[in-house]
Amino acid sequence: MSCSLRPVGRAHRAQLERLTRATGLFREDEVATAVELLDASLAGGDDYRFIGAFDDGAEHTLAGYACWGPTPGTTGTCDLYWIAVDPARQGRGVGTQLVREVERRLMVERCRLVVVETSSRADYAPTRRFYERRGYTRAATIPGYYAPGDDLVIYTKDLTDGELARATS
Ligand SMILES: CC(C)(COP(=O)(O)OP(=O)(O)OC[C@H]1O[C@@H](n2cnc3c(N)ncnc32)[C@H](O)[C@@H]1OP(=O)(O)O)[C@@H](O)C(=O)NCCC(=O)NCCS
Repeated sequence: MSCSLRPVGRAHRAQLERLTRATGLFREDEVATAVELLDASLAGGDDYRFIGAFDDGAEHTLAGYACWGPTPGTTGTCDLYWIAVDPARQGRGVGTQLVREVERRLMVERCRLVVVETSSRADYAPTRRFYERRGYTRAATIPGYYAPGDDLVIYTKDLTDGELARATS
Protein backbone atom coordinates (compact mmCIF):
# COMPACT_ATOMS: atom_id res chain seq x y z
CA MET A 1 0.00 0.00 0.00
CA SER A 2 1.48 3.36 -0.94
CA CYS A 3 1.48 6.38 1.33
CA SER A 4 0.56 10.00 0.69
CA LEU A 5 3.61 12.20 0.30
CA ARG A 6 3.20 15.55 2.01
CA PRO A 7 5.31 18.17 3.81
CA VAL A 8 6.36 17.35 7.37
CA GLY A 9 4.80 20.02 9.60
CA ARG A 10 5.30 21.20 13.15
CA ALA A 11 2.54 18.79 14.24
CA HIS A 12 4.68 15.84 13.12
CA ARG A 13 7.83 16.87 15.00
CA ALA A 14 7.34 14.39 17.89
CA GLN A 15 6.41 11.58 15.48
CA LEU A 16 9.53 12.25 13.44
CA GLU A 17 11.67 12.10 16.57
CA ARG A 18 10.05 8.82 17.72
CA LEU A 19 10.30 7.24 14.29
CA THR A 20 13.99 8.17 13.91
CA ARG A 21 14.76 6.67 17.32
CA ALA A 22 12.65 3.57 16.63
CA THR A 23 14.80 2.56 13.64
CA GLY A 24 17.41 1.57 16.24
CA LEU A 25 20.25 2.71 13.97
CA PHE A 26 20.81 6.26 15.12
CA ARG A 27 22.57 7.53 18.24
CA GLU A 28 20.66 10.01 20.42
CA ASP A 29 22.74 12.93 19.10
CA GLU A 30 21.81 11.87 15.55
CA VAL A 31 18.12 11.74 16.50
CA ALA A 32 18.49 15.27 17.90
CA THR A 33 20.16 16.37 14.64
CA ALA A 34 17.23 15.08 12.58
CA VAL A 35 14.84 17.15 14.71
CA GLU A 36 17.11 20.22 14.47
CA LEU A 37 17.12 19.96 10.69
CA LEU A 38 13.31 19.81 10.71
CA ASP A 39 13.21 22.88 12.97
CA ALA A 40 15.54 24.72 10.57
CA SER A 41 13.30 23.80 7.68
CA LEU A 42 10.12 24.85 9.54
CA ALA A 43 11.77 28.17 10.38
CA GLY A 44 11.81 28.87 6.65
CA GLY A 45 15.38 27.96 5.75
CA ASP A 46 16.03 26.42 2.34
CA ASP A 47 19.09 24.33 3.25
CA TYR A 48 17.06 21.33 4.45
CA ARG A 49 13.88 20.14 2.79
CA PHE A 50 11.59 17.44 4.14
CA ILE A 51 8.97 15.19 2.67
CA GLY A 52 6.87 12.83 4.74
CA ALA A 53 5.12 9.59 3.78
CA PHE A 54 1.81 9.37 5.64
CA ASP A 55 -0.54 6.48 6.24
CA ASP A 56 -3.90 7.46 4.86
CA GLY A 57 -5.88 6.08 7.82
CA ALA A 58 -7.67 8.30 10.31
CA GLU A 59 -4.47 8.97 12.27
CA HIS A 60 -2.42 10.31 9.34
CA THR A 61 0.60 8.66 10.93
CA LEU A 62 4.06 9.50 9.67
CA ALA A 63 5.38 6.25 8.13
CA GLY A 64 8.68 7.69 6.92
CA TYR A 65 10.47 10.81 5.79
CA ALA A 66 13.39 12.05 3.76
CA CYS A 67 15.50 15.19 4.15
CA TRP A 68 17.70 16.64 1.44
CA GLY A 69 19.29 19.89 0.39
CA PRO A 70 21.77 21.56 -1.93
CA THR A 71 25.39 20.75 -1.10
CA PRO A 72 27.12 24.02 -0.16
CA GLY A 73 29.88 25.12 -2.55
CA THR A 74 28.70 23.01 -5.49
CA THR A 75 26.74 23.58 -8.65
CA GLY A 76 23.85 21.16 -8.92
CA THR A 77 24.95 18.65 -6.28
CA CYS A 78 22.52 17.71 -3.52
CA ASP A 79 22.83 15.69 -0.34
CA LEU A 80 20.19 13.20 0.67
CA TYR A 81 20.83 13.81 4.35
CA TRP A 82 18.29 11.55 5.92
CA ILE A 83 15.81 8.85 5.12
CA ALA A 84 13.99 6.76 7.68
CA VAL A 85 10.95 4.51 7.65
CA ASP A 86 9.04 3.28 10.69
CA PRO A 87 10.35 -0.26 11.38
CA ALA A 88 6.77 -1.57 11.29
CA ARG A 89 6.50 -0.25 7.69
CA GLN A 90 9.96 -1.13 6.36
CA GLY A 91 10.33 -3.39 3.35
CA ARG A 92 6.97 -2.35 1.86
CA GLY A 93 8.08 0.29 -0.60
CA VAL A 94 7.82 3.44 1.53
CA GLY A 95 11.56 4.21 1.30
CA THR A 96 11.48 3.67 -2.46
CA GLN A 97 8.51 6.02 -2.79
CA LEU A 98 10.38 8.69 -0.80
CA VAL A 99 13.64 8.37 -2.76
CA ARG A 100 11.79 8.51 -6.09
CA GLU A 101 9.96 11.67 -5.02
CA VAL A 102 13.17 13.34 -3.80
CA GLU A 103 14.89 12.49 -7.11
CA ARG A 104 11.90 13.75 -9.11
CA ARG A 105 12.03 17.08 -7.30
CA LEU A 106 15.79 17.31 -7.69
CA MET A 107 15.55 16.73 -11.43
CA VAL A 108 12.95 19.50 -11.69
CA GLU A 109 15.47 21.74 -9.88
CA ARG A 110 18.21 20.62 -12.32
CA CYS A 111 20.26 18.89 -9.67
CA ARG A 112 22.92 16.75 -11.37
CA LEU A 113 24.28 14.58 -8.63
CA VAL A 114 22.86 13.10 -5.41
CA VAL A 115 25.28 12.24 -2.60
CA VAL A 116 24.42 9.94 0.30
CA GLU A 117 26.65 9.22 3.26
CA THR A 118 26.22 6.06 5.27
CA SER A 119 28.13 3.64 7.44
CA SER A 120 30.02 0.42 6.72
CA ARG A 121 28.67 -1.20 9.88
CA ALA A 122 27.01 -4.60 9.55
CA ASP A 123 23.70 -3.23 10.83
CA TYR A 124 23.70 -0.81 7.87
CA ALA A 125 23.93 -3.65 5.31
CA PRO A 126 20.17 -3.49 4.47
CA THR A 127 20.52 0.29 4.09
CA ARG A 128 23.47 -0.05 1.67
CA ARG A 129 21.53 -2.68 -0.28
CA PHE A 130 18.58 -0.29 -0.43
CA TYR A 131 20.71 2.44 -2.06
CA GLU A 132 22.52 0.05 -4.40
CA ARG A 133 19.26 -1.43 -5.72
CA ARG A 134 17.95 2.07 -6.32
CA GLY A 135 20.82 2.98 -8.65
CA TYR A 136 23.29 4.47 -6.17
CA THR A 137 26.96 3.71 -6.79
CA ARG A 138 29.53 3.31 -4.07
CA ALA A 139 31.84 6.22 -4.90
CA ALA A 140 34.21 6.42 -1.93
CA THR A 141 35.02 4.99 1.45
CA ILE A 142 36.85 6.74 4.27
CA PRO A 143 38.17 4.06 6.62
CA GLY A 144 37.58 4.63 10.33
CA TYR A 145 35.68 7.88 9.71
CA TYR A 146 32.90 7.40 12.27
CA ALA A 147 34.87 5.22 14.69
CA PRO A 148 37.59 2.57 14.50
CA GLY A 149 36.20 -0.07 12.14
CA ASP A 150 33.22 2.12 11.18
CA ASP A 151 33.90 3.60 7.73
CA LEU A 152 32.10 6.39 5.92
CA VAL A 153 30.60 5.00 2.70
CA ILE A 154 29.62 7.59 0.12
CA TYR A 155 27.09 6.73 -2.57
CA THR A 156 26.24 8.89 -5.54
CA LYS A 157 23.59 8.86 -8.22
CA ASP A 158 23.90 10.65 -11.54
CA LEU A 159 20.57 12.28 -12.38
CA THR A 160 21.71 13.38 -15.84
CA ASP A 161 21.29 10.07 -17.65
CA GLY A 162 25.03 9.50 -18.07
CA GLU A 163 26.00 13.05 -18.96
CA LEU A 164 28.22 13.30 -15.86
CA ALA A 165 30.18 10.15 -16.73
CA ARG A 166 30.70 11.33 -20.33
CA ALA A 167 31.90 14.75 -19.13
CA THR A 168 34.49 13.26 -16.75
CA SER A 169 35.77 10.37 -18.93
C1 LIG B 1 16.67 2.12 4.45
C2 LIG B 1 15.17 2.42 4.55
C3 LIG B 1 14.94 3.93 4.46
C4 LIG B 1 14.48 1.75 3.36
O1 LIG B 1 13.09 2.01 3.43
P1 LIG B 1 12.04 0.82 3.20
O2 LIG B 1 10.69 1.39 3.18
O3 LIG B 1 12.34 -0.25 4.20
O4 LIG B 1 12.51 0.33 1.76
P2 LIG B 1 11.61 -0.30 0.58
O5 LIG B 1 10.54 -1.14 1.15
O6 LIG B 1 11.22 0.77 -0.34
O7 LIG B 1 12.69 -1.15 -0.14
C5 LIG B 1 13.09 -2.37 0.42
C6 LIG B 1 14.50 -2.58 0.06
O8 LIG B 1 15.34 -1.94 1.03
C7 LIG B 1 16.17 -2.90 1.66
N1 LIG B 1 15.86 -2.78 3.09
C8 LIG B 1 16.53 -1.94 3.91
N2 LIG B 1 16.08 -2.06 5.16
C9 LIG B 1 15.07 -2.97 5.11
C10 LIG B 1 14.21 -3.54 6.10
N3 LIG B 1 14.32 -3.22 7.38
N4 LIG B 1 13.27 -4.43 5.72
C11 LIG B 1 13.19 -4.79 4.42
N5 LIG B 1 13.97 -4.30 3.44
C12 LIG B 1 14.91 -3.40 3.79
C13 LIG B 1 15.90 -4.27 1.09
O9 LIG B 1 17.13 -4.70 0.54
C14 LIG B 1 14.85 -4.06 0.02
O10 LIG B 1 15.46 -4.26 -1.19
P3 LIG B 1 14.67 -4.80 -2.48
O11 LIG B 1 13.26 -4.29 -2.45
O12 LIG B 1 15.43 -4.18 -3.58
O13 LIG B 1 14.79 -6.26 -2.37
C15 LIG B 1 14.53 1.87 5.84
O14 LIG B 1 14.68 0.49 5.90
C16 LIG B 1 15.07 2.49 7.11
O15 LIG B 1 14.49 3.44 7.64
N6 LIG B 1 16.17 1.96 7.65
C17 LIG B 1 16.72 2.47 8.89
C18 LIG B 1 17.23 3.89 8.77
C19 LIG B 1 18.32 4.03 7.72
O16 LIG B 1 19.15 3.17 7.51
N7 LIG B 1 18.33 5.21 7.06
C20 LIG B 1 19.35 5.57 6.12
C21 LIG B 1 20.51 6.14 6.88
S1 LIG B 1 21.89 6.45 5.81
